[in-house]
Amino acid sequence: MNSTFLTDVKQAFESTFNQEPLLVFSPGRINIIGEHTDYNDGFVFPAAVDKGIFAAIQKSTSNHSTAVALDLERTITFELDKIKPLKQGSWENYVLGVVAEIQNKNIVIGNFNIVFKGDIPSGAGMSSSAALENSVVYGLNEIFNLGLSKQDMILISQKAEHHYVGVKCGIMDQYASMFGVKNNALHLDCRTVESSPYKINFKHHQLILINTNVKHNLADSAYNDRRSACEHISKLLNIKALRDATEADLERIKDKVTPANYQKALYVIQENERTLKAAKAIEDNNLDDLGSLMYQSHYGLSKQYKVSCEELDFLVEHAKQNTHVLGARMMGGGFGGCTINLVAKSEAKNFAQTTAVAYKKAFQKSCSVYYIQLSDGTHHVTQTN
Ligand code: GLA
Repeated sequence: MNSTFLTDVKQAFESTFNQEPLLVFSPGRINIIGEHTDYNDGFVFPAAVDKGIFAAIQKSTSNHSTAVALDLERTITFELDKIKPLKQGSWENYVLGVVAEIQNKNIVIGNFNIVFKGDIPSGAGMSSSAALENSVVYGLNEIFNLGLSKQDMILISQKAEHHYVGVKCGIMDQYASMFGVKNNALHLDCRTVESSPYKINFKHHQLILINTNVKHNLADSAYNDRRSACEHISKLLNIKALRDATEADLERIKDKVTPANYQKALYVIQENERTLKAAKAIEDNNLDDLGSLMYQSHYGLSKQYKVSCEELDFLVEHAKQNTHVLGARMMGGGFGGCTINLVAKSEAKNFAQTTAVAYKKAFQKSCSVYYIQLSDGTHHVTQTN
């Protein structure tokens, strides 16, 4: 965890508001496998990481509330009885959305001040948005003693994303960020919203992220379109969600759906199975199987679900040419962001370097490499070092 960032938000808070804040760290996440399965009531395999949002928060006696986005050097003040979404894409919506969703539960909060800063690049597919939402709801729950459970809090964060940010996301990001367990990934059933922790120690291998540094503007609407397509097919199949479908079920309605939507539903059914197989592979310490499932996942995301992009495909192809890389795939919602790679530790540096060179040559821009640690979920931080 970046202690400088924590000091930064603490100092900025104290000098702006003249009070001692409560400090919160709320992590971003990776996802080993199980992409676009969460809103289909399926399985996912995320983990919280040591990068995320650092927030300083406290009650205010003023007649308005203030939020400061330190990275952006932007400040917003707002009145609690006049909360409404701002234009799409505004950072303010993550804060305002959480406040509105708390109020929608008929919970009364008072005015507050918050200063935050993050070390996850936005659009990296590492859920900086869920990290921010969780930091706000967690901080408000603490300072106003709201008595919300972690389950309550992630549902509030998710609703903020649906109603204020405009993305009909599943529960994976908020869950992983809130419930993360150090050195573990969470095998999460998105129907029951319960998970089993899996200790991740790949011995001679490690997970590395490579960020394309690409973010596509239409990603949010494309995401919502995918979700509607899945819901449409579930309706045709007369089931609650695609988690309940088999390939044979889908085959029976093939002539009622477009070929593109057929492929999308097929992807979801197969990805869900892959996620269960990945859990078994990790239990058996069978990294070859895990890696191959990751490559298959990428193929499905790119060719069937169509949420990849040229840069992500390039990185995965490049990984495939290195025998020390057991698996790679795009991670998160897609259309940019990071790939997640399962790489031999002895090769990690070399792989990162050769990838950077090849990427630059192909796209005339740089990719970024992140070495991550799996961390605890959203929590109160007591020390600044
Ligand atoms: C985004 C969403 C998640 C999930 C992933 C894809 O990160 O917020 O709910 O659907 O995309 O797996």
